[in-house]
Amino acid sequence: MIVGSIKEDLSLEKRVSITPETAKNIINLGLKICIENGYANHIGIRDEEYKNVGVEIKSSPKEVLDNSNLLVKVNCPSEKEISNLKDKTILIGMFNPSKNQNKLKEIFKKNIDIFSLELLPRITRAQSMDVLSSQANLAGYRAVVEAIYEYEKAVPMMMTAAGTVPAAKVLVIGAGVAGLQAIATAKRLGAIVSATDVRAASKEQVESLGGKFLTVEGSENLETKGGYAKEAGEDFKKKQAQVLEKAASNSDIIICTALIPGKPAPRIINEKMIDNMKQGSVIFDLAVIQGGNAAYSEVDKTVIKKGVKIIGIGNVMNKLPITASSLYAKNIFSFIRNLYSKEKKEFVLNTEDEIIKNTLIKKEN
Ligand code: NAI
Repeated sequence: MIVGSIKEDLSLEKRVSITPETAKNIINLGLKICIENGYANHIGIRDEEYKNVGVEIKSSPKEVLDNSNLLVKVNCPSEKEISNLKDKTILIGMFNPSKNQNKLKEIFKKNIDIFSLELLPRITRAQSMDVLSSQANLAGYRAVVEAIYEYEKAVPMMMTAAGTVPAAKVLVIGAGVAGLQAIATAKRLGAIVSATDVRAASKEQVESLGGKFLTVEGSENLETKGGYAKEAGEDFKKKQAQVLEKAASNSDIIICTALIPGKPAPRIINEKMIDNMKQGSVIFDLAVIQGGNAAYSEVDKTVIKKGVKIIGIGNVMNKLPITASSLYAKNIFSFIRNLYSKEKKEFVLNTEDEIIKNTLIKKEN
């Protein structure tokens, strides 16, 4: 059985799905690997490093596709890649099924089984495969770094002979995976941090990281059984806006990470709040790709309104592709290990397994 991987469209995606470290682990399972030449050159990993652990280097992506039983990717394949896919290949990646329906239909015509790892159940056994957590954690960290880079003042409090520099105030909207890492990062850098979420359960987590939790009345009803947020009603939104109007005007940096699975991003920071922020403040909107939590945010742009910078980076992972690849590739390895039977020497699609059942995209979707 051969696992293959080809370069992503480098103008959009710098992550890779296999690193030399995970290649070694995959080969140790009894599988072979082939990749296209120059596969990870752009992040400083040479073909030699893959060759040294036993990976075969092919001279074109087509050659990889022709030879692979299982193809690992970050994003959905392009139309050209789909046309070159061999029948019955297994495909693993993050395929964003609701956005890529047409492409997925084309892939299904080739009798291909597609596993989309954003659909992993959040159960203990799946933690090592959890791409959403591994990537969002880095996104939260990087959002703070990017925001601070654009913020033209110092962040930690400094008491110097020339005077005292006050600590910057950071407000984090949404305290899920990205939000909690954003809180931790901002704290480490010396900021005074507050955060809010619609899930009352997140209060304890925010406080354990040293953040102040801004409670909005009514939030106790907004959590699903699976631990995700429900969409807030109008009454809640009004109450939340009242709390945040004050908090936003006091903040120097706002990091937006609020998300409701499968829905457009909730609009939380409105024009009025931005109007009332101090000149030189920065908003980093991680939810920009789903429409944004903040007014004015645009994908891959920094919009300036009354001296407030609103940053929207579509793929923050491209700012730290080496770390992101290292974690993503480990997630992929764990998934392959669960899918491959060493005894049978083949991939076993056991749909009794919750991990396999949930991630396997159904044709009618
Ligand atoms: P998550 O689901 O773990 O956390 C989202 C949090 O937002 C939850 O705690 C939820 O309760 C909260 N929330 C939902 N509605 C809210 C509201 N109205 N007010 C306050 N809080 C609310 O999601 P995760 O994984 O932390 O991702 C956060 C965002 O970052 C998402 O938009 C995700 O797509 C984005 N992201 C962007 C990346 C990029 O490269 N641009 C990479 C990874 C994540």
